[in-house]
Amino acid sequence: MNRLPIGVFDSGLGGLSAVRVLRNEAPLEDIIYFGDTARVPYGSRSPETIVRYACGDADFLLERGVRAILVACGTVSSVALDILKERCGVPVTGVVDGAARAAAEATENGIVGVIGTAVTINNGSLERKTREYAKALGKDIKTVPTACQLFVALVENGCIGRGNPLTEIAVRDYLAPIKESGADTLILGCTHFPIIADIISDYLPGVRLIDPSAEAVKELSGGTEKAAGSGKTEYFVSDAPANFDMLAEIFLGKKIKASVAEIK
Ligand code: DGL
Repeated sequence: MNRLPIGVFDSGLGGLSAVRVLRNEAPLEDIIYFGDTARVPYGSRSPETIVRYACGDADFLLERGVRAILVACGTVSSVALDILKERCGVPVTGVVDGAARAAAEATENGIVGVIGTAVTINNGSLERKTREYAKALGKDIKTVPTACQLFVALVENGCIGRGNPLTEIAVRDYLAPIKESGADTLILGCTHFPIIADIISDYLPGVRLIDPSAEAVKELSGGTEKAAGSGKTEYFVSDAPANFDMLAEIFLGKKIKASVAEIK
């Protein structure tokens, strides 16, 4: 008998980068993706609103019988993970822990840049966990946090790829403190950010970039198996934005069809 699917959600389409990694790691898992495109971005909202939205997103997946949930959103993982873990009744994995652990292991000079949405950075758990993991490894590290809220809007509007003038300016402006700090490692604490990793790397040559989706898939509670289901992925969004097809292809590397779902 096929195993139940894994549910993945994000405030928008950034979480598709996690689906891409998960699909590569576990080609036969069944996956259900939900992107709350009607309410993106989450990263400038109050924690209470983010918790409410996140619970609705998780319920949507649970109603479809998922056996585990991957919260492919740095903002929700920072603010609502414990609440989701308590109420969902299935294993819930966020993107904070894996990224924090990977950064703590990777840094050699002990300076780690941490970027994310305003909520993720204000919440501070990504920084705190990175320092905790480093301490457990006997490393006394310094973290350099910077909120980069415009990155989400730039990515959702397709301002990507080397040479994009808007994103190049935003990267230079937001990441100047990281460059000045001499960080050798940078946590891309939002699942939208790996899409502009090329522009970030050009500005911060030699800095190791930590992709939260890649680390979360390694951590996924409940485990993945190489031969578990039929390898089907269903995509749901709460609104079909005008540039949905283009964006989905950017995040996933292929064209997809998504159903528009109403959520509470
Ligand atoms: N991908 C989400 C994250 O990781 C974007 C946040 C937002 O919607 O502002 O934080």
